[in-house]
Amino acid sequence: MARIAIFGAGYVGLVTGACFAKLGHTVVIRDVVPEKVARLQAGEVPIYEPGLRELIDECRDRISFTLDLDDVVKDAEFLYLAVPTPEGELGDANLQYVWEVIEELPEGLPGRPVVVMKSTVPVGTGARARARLDARGLTSYGYVSNPEFLAEGNAIDDFMKPDRVVVGAVDPEDGKRVLDLYDGVDTEHLIEIDVESAELVKLAANAMLATRISFINEIARICERVNADVTKVAYGMGLDKRVGEFFLKAGVGYGGSCFPKDVKALETLAKNDADYTFRILAAVQEVNRLQKLLAVEKLGQRLGDLRGRTVALLGLAFKPETNDMREAPSEVIARALIDGGATVRGWDPEADSDAIPGIERCATPLEAVTGADAAVIVTDWKELKSIATAEVRDAMARPLIIDGRNLLDPEAVAAAGFEYEAIGRPTKATPVAVS
Ligand code: UDX
Ligand code: UDX
Repeated sequence: MARIAIFGAGYVGLVTGACFAKLGHTVVIRDVVPEKVARLQAGEVPIYEPGLRELIDECRDRISFTLDLDDVVKDAEFLYLAVPTPEGELGDANLQYVWEVIEELPEGLPGRPVVVMKSTVPVGTGARARARLDARGLTSYGYVSNPEFLAEGNAIDDFMKPDRVVVGAVDPEDGKRVLDLYDGVDTEHLIEIDVESAELVKLAANAMLATRISFINEIARICERVNADVTKVAYGMGLDKRVGEFFLKAGVGYGGSCFPKDVKALETLAKNDADYTFRILAAVQEVNRLQKLLAVEKLGQRLGDLRGRTVALLGLAFKPETNDMREAPSEVIARALIDGGATVRGWDPEADSDAIPGIERCATPLEAVTGADAAVIVTDWKELKSIATAEVRDAMARPLIIDGRNLLDPEAVAAAGFEYEAIGRPTKATPVAVS
């Protein structure tokens, strides 16, 4: 079993650390935010990810947290980087935190410590990191790219039962050692490729998934105009094994810490480093930008002027089973509604109470919809599946639901007396009074 150091106690660092500890390794996670480290040391887990708290508790004797560089690197055989790589000003990834860690790695660690990149980085970062390690005299340190493919809400399963584990190593022996760390995970594919290809697998996979979402969102736009149902179209498409069923859910657009920035990063990388215009990715992003505003358009069509209206946003996190608000469509929708003069209320079981400034935060969906002119399902939390009740209908000033995730059954919602509109699904015409 190995001694693993992890830099960054965020979503990726914590899940990676807890899972390696579960596999039997000894893990020390270092973060630079004192409050976060103090909470982790006290047994709290600062993010919501199903099963993570339990897993960290279970592995307490093999996982620890520190602010201190010496603590984290002491006896470490592997130095994992899980620090953020946010979008930079020019659309490229900002690698400031990555370079900070590379610069502070001490000389003289015994054996052959391997620096492992978990953070998503542009192609070429590995080569630059190798050069920097060499320039600092850390020639005995290995370098391996080992991209993460953890989807929030399902991250522990994604680690323990991954479709694949990918490593790209400058020295193949180092790559083999990193793959050995995964002994015990349930997968058929532990693959070792070159560093550049490993770096590109991550960006290309996320860009492909984002492309599928924008594609189905455009199909949804067509469905609305030709009276087809995008959920049925996606079902029929997905049964073709070459297409596959996943990532074909139309909705209010993709968000999160990865897709928006990775699509942008790949587009920018293509332009700057490969002198190539990645045309599809420009369209993917434009479709997503417009898709985040679709619910607002639909509200405008139904309610007319939004000034003085009250709208309840049901679900704020960028997807269910997480408290993560990064690039959440709810923020864009809330901002557009507030700019249009509406009062916005929000409910979410996990997002922080101040997740979106300027909205009224409510403790229950019922409280959020009470007296509202409309409710928008923004995040497909399972709690919302049963929202279309008589109690909710009667509590609303106007029982209008815009279902941004196609979560509800249109027939049942209409039968319960709601005015209802989904994304890319036929909408029963509101009965016109005949005088
Ligand atoms: C990760 C990846 O690392 C990123 O590249 C990937 O594309 C998305 O997922 P994530 O774990 O989601 O990032 O980020 P975050 O939850 O922000 O956690 C990063 C942690 O690193 C934070 O706790 C932050 O305090 C810490 N940090 C930041 C450091 O420890 N050192 C630094 O220099 C900067
Ligand atoms: C993603 C990747 O799936 C993961 O492999 C990578 O390492 C990190 O980025 P994550 O961002 O946590 O994971 O969530 P994901 O489940 O991929 O969803 C991303 C966004 O796409 C969410 O806003 C979600 O609501 C949206 N989405 C997803 C759709 O709109 N339709 C779909 O069919 C699937």
